[in-house]
Amino acid sequence: MSRDAVDGVATPVRFASLTDATERDLRALNAVLFPVRYGDAFYDDCRRAGGCTQLAYAMDERGSGSATTTTMTLAGAIACRLEMNAASDGAKLYIMTLGVYAGRRDGKIGSRLLTHALNVASRDAFVKEAYLHVQTNNFQAFEFYERFGFEKGEVVKNYYKRIEPPDAVILRRDLGASWTERELEGVTFDEDAA
Ligand SMILES: CC(C)(COP(=O)(O)OP(=O)(O)OC[C@H]1O[C@@H](n2cnc3c(N)ncnc32)[C@H](O)[C@@H]1OP(=O)(O)O)[C@@H](O)C(=O)NCCC(=O)NCCS
Repeated sequence: MSRDAVDGVATPVRFASLTDATERDLRALNAVLFPVRYGDAFYDDCRRAGGCTQLAYAMDERGSGSATTTTMTLAGAIACRLEMNAASDGAKLYIMTLGVYAGRRDGKIGSRLLTHALNVASRDAFVKEAYLHVQTNNFQAFEFYERFGFEKGEVVKNYYKRIEPPDAVILRRDLGASWTERELEGVTFDEDAA
């Protein structure tokens, strides 16, 4: 269990959108957590996904009484892209990365980032489904996404270039009526976050 988490309690976080001010934090998080160096096009796509891409900042308090100061430190983020579907009659939410720094895990930050992205995407009737790639041996990821109603689809051989095994499974879920908006406990929002 991480130092932040207390049995099943959601760590208080502040959500912020991807902006000039926050992009450096997302780049640093992705560099630490993922074996791929994402270029500028990735971050442009993330911004175009609007509120689906979201950064979660932990609020760390120091001192006591009137001398208390609060520092906001990035704890995790979800990075999404919106894609047109094959028939051009709807869009798909592609989850590119979802990551929480190791010391901040198990405080429901990842779950709330994913919930928020699905909430936001489902408000737009044009967005019909959400999907992502997961490495075929990432059983924890299957369990995690199953809780949100994702189902396994096809295997994409040699999807990953530098990791073993190189194959990915597509996980997807409908975003029509089957997704009911969920509340986010312990989240405050920056003005530009929704
Ligand atoms: C996946 C991840 C974002 C979850 O963040 P989190 O804030 O700890 O998530 P929550 O507290 O909401 O949920 C914790 C659950 O995530 C699961 N989990 C742990 N590692 C995971 C992983 N690599 N992939 C997916 N789920 C994972 C745990 O099993 C835990 O389940 P539990 O509640 O039954 O114990 C975080 O573990 C992470 O950043 N992992 C490394 C990056 C990664 O693999 N991301 C891609 C996943 S597709």
